[in-house]
Amino acid sequence: MQDIRRSLIAKLMAEPACYIGKTVDVKGWVRSRRGNKYVQFVALNDGSSVKSLQIVFDLNKFSEEDLRQVTTGASIHVQGELVESQGKGQTIEVQAESLEVYGTADPDTYPLQKKGHSLEFLRDKAHLRPRTNYFSCVLRIRHALAYAIHKFFNDKGFYYFHTPLITASDCEGAGAQFQVTTLPLDKLPQDKEGAIDYSKDFFGKMASLTVSGQLEGELGATALGCIYTFGPTFRAENSNTPRHLSEFWMIEPEMAFYEIADNMDLAEEFIKYCISYALEHCKDDIEFLAEHFDKELPERLKFVVENDFVRLPYTEGVRILEESGKKFEFPVYWGVDLASEHERYLVEEHFKKPVILTDYPKEIKAFYMKLNDDGKTVRAMDVLFPKIGEIIGGSQREENYDKLCARMEELGLEGMDWYLDTRRFGSVPHSGFGLGFERLVLFVTGMQNIRDVIPFPRYPKNCEY
Ligand code: 4AD
Ligand code: MG
Repeated sequence: MQDIRRSLIAKLMAEPACYIGKTVDVKGWVRSRRGNKYVQFVALNDGSSVKSLQIVFDLNKFSEEDLRQVTTGASIHVQGELVESQGKGQTIEVQAESLEVYGTADPDTYPLQKKGHSLEFLRDKAHLRPRTNYFSCVLRIRHALAYAIHKFFNDKGFYYFHTPLITASDCEGAGAQFQVTTLPLDKLPQDKEGAIDYSKDFFGKMASLTVSGQLEGELGATALGCIYTFGPTFRAENSNTPRHLSEFWMIEPEMAFYEIADNMDLAEEFIKYCISYALEHCKDDIEFLAEHFDKELPERLKFVVENDFVRLPYTEGVRILEESGKKFEFPVYWGVDLASEHERYLVEEHFKKPVILTDYPKEIKAFYMKLNDDGKTVRAMDVLFPKIGEIIGGSQREENYDKLCARMEELGLEGMDWYLDTRRFGSVPHSGFGLGFERLVLFVTGMQNIRDVIPFPRYPKNCEY
């Protein structure tokens, strides 16, 4: 955690005894400056920790003129001795011996002057918000979770499988797609019937950004055994909720020989692993977020890690909702696609635990899910979380060629011969699921809005940066 030219502040803070009395080089951005005519204190942050390091400038060594450019937002390099701090609020500090200013930040125009900007204000300044304590915490946790995900699957012998982002298959039905084209929109080529002539388009056919890597993931799993994808997905729904993005990252494991119960076990183990990893490796960041935004955050995280998830068939879930006597905004009855308020009632009020809801009506789920013997429900599983609602969606897949074809015919799905080959040749029972990465980050950080857990959020009418 140290490169040739600088000491990371996180490292100095974690192991002060190793550095006290030594000369260190620290480089970062000034968070604040205060002091008197004898001494000036600068809080320096280098992104490695939510904690800033105190730099002490003795005004016998440095003139006011030397420090004129050391203002909030400026970037500096300080060399000096690391010492135990005499002041309150920090254990160590650096007695500055030399100062180099890399870049100034005009106090009249630098937007992050005062402490405690609102999250809405910071969303408008998304290009600078990584420099705030709150957002840097979110970003470090996001990184740790991404790393934990790769580690979890790698340690289990899963292969990271790269599925395409541009696709010509739109059968998943997971959401509206963004079209990808190089055709001139003001002068679209037409065929003899007057329809758009996609043979003239870049790929010679209509193409879009992917809504999920699953179908291609199944091709990987039925060859390599267990795979996972981890990449961006794109959905063009006009959803302006605090849980939807138009561009979000999804992790989709797909496992040959797994049935629905194995799938549920994996999902539960996986999500608990990720949360435990963050609890262990992001202590300072979680503590900071708890202190400033969400007091119950650490307890909520530990609770999820330590308790078994409830496993419940959809039909049972609907019965509980119907008998709850609660006035929901959206009606609830067998066959309905549950709304977030229904999911959250089950999790937050009824069971007070994460719930894995299974065996949904086939009409509200994707064509590829395995039909149950009742002919009405499919082996779907949604993992529902407190504060979030659905965090994972998955299923056992229909591996029977005839049943799958019949369902596709019912839905009028065509042109998926490549997908059907997995069932034509050496078909196996298999299962998988998708975890919305930002929903996981939302849960672990305790943030309220999904737009605050991704560096540059995309949502309807917003595509800045
Ligand atoms: O439930 P979904 O649509 O499932 C699939 O796409 C399957 N192909 C997954 C699979 O079986 N391999 O999406 C999976 C998860 C959801 O549970 C949710 O966490 C997240 O992706 N998600 C979104 N996250 C942010 N913004 C959106 N618009 C999202 N839509 C889904
Ligand atoms: Mg879903």
